Amino acid sequence: MTIATINLDPDRTTGEIDRRIFSGFLEHLGRAIYEGVYDPGNALSDECGFRRDVLDAMRPMRMPYVRYPGGNFVSDYDWKDGIGPVGERPVRADFAWQTTEPNTFGTDEFVDWCRTVGTEPMLAVNLGTGTARAAAELVEYSNHPSGTHWSDLRRANGHADPHGVKLWCLGNEMDGPWQAGHVPAQEYALRAEQAGKLMKGVDPTIETIIAGSSGNHMPEYMEWDRVALEYTWDHVDYISAHRYSRNERDDTPWFLAEGVEIERIIEDYRSLLGYVRAVKKSSKRVYLSFDEWNVWYRARGGDFSHGNWDRAPHLIEEEYNLEDALVIAQYLNAFIRNADVVKIACLAQIVNVIAPVLTRKDGLLFQSIYHPIVRYAELASGISLTPVVDGPVYTAGERGETPVLDVSAAYDGATGKATAFVVNRDPSQSVRVTINISGRSVSGAGDGWLLTGDDPKAQNSWDAPKAVVPSTCGVAVEDGAARLEMPPMSVMVAALGTVAG
Ligand code: AHR
Repeated sequence: MTIATINLDPDRTTGEIDRRIFSGFLEHLGRAIYEGVYDPGNALSDECGFRRDVLDAMRPMRMPYVRYPGGNFVSDYDWKDGIGPVGERPVRADFAWQTTEPNTFGTDEFVDWCRTVGTEPMLAVNLGTGTARAAAELVEYSNHPSGTHWSDLRRANGHADPHGVKLWCLGNEMDGPWQAGHVPAQEYALRAEQAGKLMKGVDPTIETIIAGSSGNHMPEYMEWDRVALEYTWDHVDYISAHRYSRNERDDTPWFLAEGVEIERIIEDYRSLLGYVRAVKKSSKRVYLSFDEWNVWYRARGGDFSHGNWDRAPHLIEEEYNLEDALVIAQYLNAFIRNADVVKIACLAQIVNVIAPVLTRKDGLLFQSIYHPIVRYAELASGISLTPVVDGPVYTAGERGETPVLDVSAAYDGATGKATAFVVNRDPSQSVRVTINISGRSVSGAGDGWLLTGDDPKAQNSWDAPKAVVPSTCGVAVEDGAARLEMPPMSVMVAALGTVAG
């Protein structure tokens, strides 16, 4: 057992945690929509065709926004195919996933689904094969009250009230050669600027997100982002980052240090945003929308990504294990710690496709990654405290000596409640952790929340749905500090009451 100390100080904060970091992403891909959120005729679905078990699974994740309809799908999507009488909608060949798209679920169904869950829609527009005009028309259809062609069409389609969509993604991963309509950065910047201006012309209250690099492995990483940001700076609110973590080398110690890389990416964007702000001599700020993130490497390429022109094929249905759940917790820790930069983050995705829940006709399975997401979403609010950690390191394969603990913390000044989110990344060491809060005494700690296990590859399955589930653990209070014992490969969430002194 090694020893670590986490020092927190209510005056050392990166600011208010933006709850939008708990958002999600839903794409027309595989069984995400059809057989996922939408399954008309199934005994588990409601009168709108929405799967009730999926709705119930979504609510504890408290997603403030869900991004839709893609992803790669959006870059050749005509949103007009997905509105109006269902029987008259065209069936299309989807370029991105080689799937047959029936269009029986479109913008209006998505917004209805959001309202049923209790989340807000975040829409992406097609800047691959689509036009700035079509993007602005979607804003008009969605947000204009009435009295224009597109708003009246929405009303005729059964939605008298505007959808009130606040967040808009200007295309998706346009730096990727796989993307429909992929162009060089300068060309994308022009498209984004033109579309964004028209869209804000229709509704000046919306916020827009330009498509940053699709990952830090891309040859133009940061350079693409710089070009796009410099051109659009005055008219845009966020830039997107995407990352899918991979453990193809099957090296658990190395993979569990993934948080170091996630932090690095946020740092890269922090620097770039500061640089562009400086060269523009601008007083405005642009923030980061980390709008695709997850673990994804097993179900990739070949038959995993090619639907053979089927409807709702089984595509990229990644199965998650314990080590993946610990990486998920590190993403969330990084978003919380960097509250001043990361304002939006979308788990990619939410159902069946690289998702925390899987469905089959007669039921739903909670994957390992579901559990930390729910617990963090429940407790991470207030301000983000900057943790100062004094603790051991471990050897994370090629990543070298890495701090064993990955930590974030939330604090509510009004109630004095502090919550620590702690990952022990080391596969073999337990750690005895002391948490001090400067100027405060820990007055009470309920049970800690713990997700751990001996086998990093343990996963839930239809036959064993509870192989990876959280348990409670003791959190002691001694001399005004909290004390916890963290097993190897664990994530713990400790909610602490504090009083002055
Ligand atoms: O989430 C799956 C895919 O990953 C998305 O369609 C794309 O944006 C990313 O490459």
